Amino acid sequence: MSTKNIVILGIESSCDDTSAAVIRDGILLSNVTASQSVHEAYGGVVPELASRAHQQNIVPVVSEALKRAGVSRGDLSAVAFTRGPGLLGSLLVGTSFAKGIAQALGIKMIDVNHLQAHVLAHFVSEGIEGERHPSFPFLCLLVSGGNSQILLVKSYKEMSIIGQTIDDAAGEAFDKCAKVMGLPYPGGPHIDRLAKQGDPKRFKFAKPHIPDFDYSFSGLKTSFLYFLRDEIAKNPDFIEQNLPDLCASLQATIIEILMSKLRLAASQYNVNHIALAGGVSANSGLRDAFVKYGEESGKEIYIPKFSFTTDNAAMVAQAGYFKYLDGDFCDMNLAPYARVTV
Ligand code: KG4
Repeated sequence: MSTKNIVILGIESSCDDTSAAVIRDGILLSNVTASQSVHEAYGGVVPELASRAHQQNIVPVVSEALKRAGVSRGDLSAVAFTRGPGLLGSLLVGTSFAKGIAQALGIKMIDVNHLQAHVLAHFVSEGIEGERHPSFPFLCLLVSGGNSQILLVKSYKEMSIIGQTIDDAAGEAFDKCAKVMGLPYPGGPHIDRLAKQGDPKRFKFAKPHIPDFDYSFSGLKTSFLYFLRDEIAKNPDFIEQNLPDLCASLQATIIEILMSKLRLAASQYNVNHIALAGGVSANSGLRDAFVKYGEESGKEIYIPKFSFTTDNAAMVAQAGYFKYLDGDFCDMNLAPYARVTV
């Protein structure tokens, strides 16, 4: 099989972002994402509405990705799509689209694990000089709305979970605490913005005592909720009067929980390359903590570009490209899955 002029169309539709990307010979040519504002009014993603919006968005998003890449349908070597985990109705839209285009063009199909794709976002290349990519083996802290995991990444397809949340994900902790403070969904970016003007040491919240490298965020959420309830009983305007300090203190607690386990894992597994991935990796405090950790420990730190932190098809196309080189294709009768780990 020739490894030249391989053009992969990537499709991502696992949650509330419809995204398509084109990679030629390992270089990203386009990455187009339509986000769904319809969920804002509900304080969280409504699965039924997400599927409908994917149906509306998928054709224009793919057309735009091909157009921006300067690629026609006939140039495609394969279509890579997110098979899971995610919302089943959302995944069905991307999976069905991939089957349709593969059948129509007579090209190969490649199924991609969404979590592995987040990790492999670190290998997306835009052909820019000075790009850095982690070397195997490396540790990856994958933090999103649905997952908080520490992964030992031995190769692009060999990843093992060495620690993960036993309840809520870090993104969920951001979003649920934001909701309690009356901030819009998703709350993570709002907490990040407000935290910049606040004092991270002003309030103290409960940190979990969980063995090994696992995480827990439900105790923090409860402690935050009870703290606010008690303070509001004394002063009904407590949240409005202390919003930046609340956000800064909460964010600092989440970051400290994430980083303490990561530091422990890095020293136990003795790896020198440490990466960050997933939607919460957009958090400026977490990014700063990562940089600081790199400076203090001498480890090589990899932080994704903002466009590759939240759900995007570039990472799916990249994962697909690796599988294409391995001849690892799937057939037409496979179905998406809602739940799975890496
Ligand atoms: O990976 P992702 O796009 O999707 C899913 O998990 O489905 O992650 C979304 C999560 C949300 O919980 C959102 O609040 C969080 O990432 N997030 C942030 C920031 N940007 C997005 N959390 C904290 N700070 C941010 N700047």
